[in-house]
Amino acid sequence: GGLVWRGCSASCDAEDGTAGTLTDGNANPGDKLEGTDAAPDDPVHLKRRVGLFSGVALIVGTMIGSGIFVSPSGLLERTGSVGISFIIWMSCGLLSLLGALAYAELGTMNTSSGAEYAYFMDAFGGPPAFLFSWVSTLVLKPSQMAIICLSFAKYAVEPFVSECEPPEGLVKLVAVICIVMILAVNCYSVNLATNVQNIFTAAKLVAIAIIVCGGAYKLILGNTRHLQEPNFASSTATLGNIATAFYTGLWAYDGWNNLNYVTEEIKNPSKNLPMSIIIGIPLVTLCYALVNVSYLAVMSVSEMTDSEAVAVTFGNRLLGPMAWLMPLAVTISTFGSANGTLFVAGRLCFAASREGHLLDILSYVHVRRFTPAPGLIFHSLIATAMVLYGTIGSLIDFFSFTAWIFYGGAMLALIVMRRTKPHAPRPYKVPIIIPYIVLLVSAYLVVAPIIDLPQWEYLYAAAFILGGLVVYVPFVKWGYSLPFMDKITVLLQMVLEVVPTSTTFE
Ligand code: ARG
Repeated sequence: GGLVWRGCSASCDAEDGTAGTLTDGNANPGDKLEGTDAAPDDPVHLKRRVGLFSGVALIVGTMIGSGIFVSPSGLLERTGSVGISFIIWMSCGLLSLLGALAYAELGTMNTSSGAEYAYFMDAFGGPPAFLFSWVSTLVLKPSQMAIICLSFAKYAVEPFVSECEPPEGLVKLVAVICIVMILAVNCYSVNLATNVQNIFTAAKLVAIAIIVCGGAYKLILGNTRHLQEPNFASSTATLGNIATAFYTGLWAYDGWNNLNYVTEEIKNPSKNLPMSIIIGIPLVTLCYALVNVSYLAVMSVSEMTDSEAVAVTFGNRLLGPMAWLMPLAVTISTFGSANGTLFVAGRLCFAASREGHLLDILSYVHVRRFTPAPGLIFHSLIATAMVLYGTIGSLIDFFSFTAWIFYGGAMLALIVMRRTKPHAPRPYKVPIIIPYIVLLVSAYLVVAPIIDLPQWEYLYAAAFILGGLVVYVPFVKWGYSLPFMDKITVLLQMVLEVVPTSTTFE
């Protein structure tokens, strides 16, 4: 008894925010969802507990994940040149920084935790906002989950096949097992999920530190051979090729906008939000630069592009009897990221279905565990399908293409609102040239690959987005529901033991 669900919904609404705080060691948003310390009279306001330090930690924690352990090979392959790939790594960092600064204006102007959803609503109205919540729950979050779990699987399998190509079926099987394990953790208890997150976040910093120190050691010994051939001339880069190389690099930086999902929880946001961004993103960029240099201090370009799991090869070359440390650290790191991603996805799905954007059942919560089980299961199913039918590379293209349509949209929202709401309070105002630059780059990133090399992934993504419109008009705008849906909902409720959260258990 005594569980007041309104308190719960306030914290669930934080979407990415709840998981954002997840990465930040000391906060425990889970408590709220479990209904233990929900304040019944204060359903909307979350505690402001994210200061500058936790803000930076949160950015670094979400951005560093699987990408830096899988992207360097792909990027090198796509550009064919050490010099160009390095320039792209750095440009991705810069682009993320500029994008995040523009997001800081949006986030301090509208502090709603819905982030993009709220900005699109303000700037363009209902349909684009719906499309965002539709695409992020159906495409963006599950594909993130699939990519991270596939990276986990590569690293989990690699030590056992000792630098041969691991069988694809095995990698996919392990990735699906990873999804199931994470689903179990998240359905079992919110506290368990947050604990997993906090413990596992440390692992990625350890992995980065090992790589950077190992590389520095090799460089001091004078092993700079592979770094001295920037190979600009041998580059295979076409305009479209460069855009997809950016996709690969930008995947490693994705998550740069995550503070916007917790603006309500940031202390003194007009100062701390831009400061966390200005410190956090260059920090990640620096880490990635050092890791790339380290890889090349130990491996040649062809060794890197041939390697299935570049950090394992790195460990094998450098760590001798301790080589097992590398795949272990990376698997723990990616497992943690996947866990955080599903946690967020569950909340996002929960919030979207409560707005009437998805099936009602997806906003229900387990009767005893208080976890949003239907949403979690739904996401895991989509992610599993993506794992089975996709590869890391194709999923990264699919994800980045879709994500950058919406990042570009957010820039457009900022520019539009400068005109339509000139007097709205803007505690932090970004130089207007910045959103224009990011908008231009995102247009290039979305269009160039299609022109250069049309792939099915882009068509699927476009179909999903347009499909959203087809659903929007009858089911959201006119409020129709399918006739047999009630029966299915009741059946699923009994099987999964879930209830709508508007219920008050008192
Ligand atoms: N950059 C992360 C990685 O390299 C992926 C982050 C996924 N995005 C997010 N918003 N959690 O694995």
